Amino acid sequence: MPDEKSTTEQEVRCTRRETFVKLGLGTLGVAGAGAAVFGYEFLSPNVLYEPSPITNAGKPDRYPQGSVTADPKTGIYVVHGPEGFYALSAVCTHLGCLTSWLPEQNQIACPCHGSKFNAEGVKIEGPAPRPLAWLRVWISDEGDLMVDRSTTVPARQFLRT
Ligand code: FES
Repeated sequence: MPDEKSTTEQEVRCTRRETFVKLGLGTLGVAGAGAAVFGYEFLSPNVLYEPSPITNAGKPDRYPQGSVTADPKTGIYVVHGPEGFYALSAVCTHLGCLTSWLPEQNQIACPCHGSKFNAEGVKIEGPAPRPLAWLRVWISDEGDLMVDRSTTVPARQFLRT
């Protein structure tokens, strides 16, 4: 009879020991997995992927002579003036609001503080400190009008087709 009792106590002790070992291993596993996740996050590059600054504005014949075409999605104006094509940034040089073309006034106007610009981006009135930026334009191999929003060019640099 005493042999039977000691065997049962030994089994209980073994079971308890195994439970603690399993608990310890489980805790180490969770801690290791957490460290691996944070390590991966720490080592992976923190990069912000932005859309390309180059815009395909389509075929030049889409823009009739004398037209000012706004593209609010890309924040540019494509202008087909008497001397050729050019592109202006639609971002106001005061505090960065998006301007809009007012055809009845033949002006570009900023809704924020009232700056106004002519079709070549020259400031007419308002607090804007500089004219609207002229952007690089070119014709692609496929014959499309391309605009690079990240590259400014001197004013009155027309693209003649
Ligand atoms: S942001 Fe355009 S006038 Fe102030």
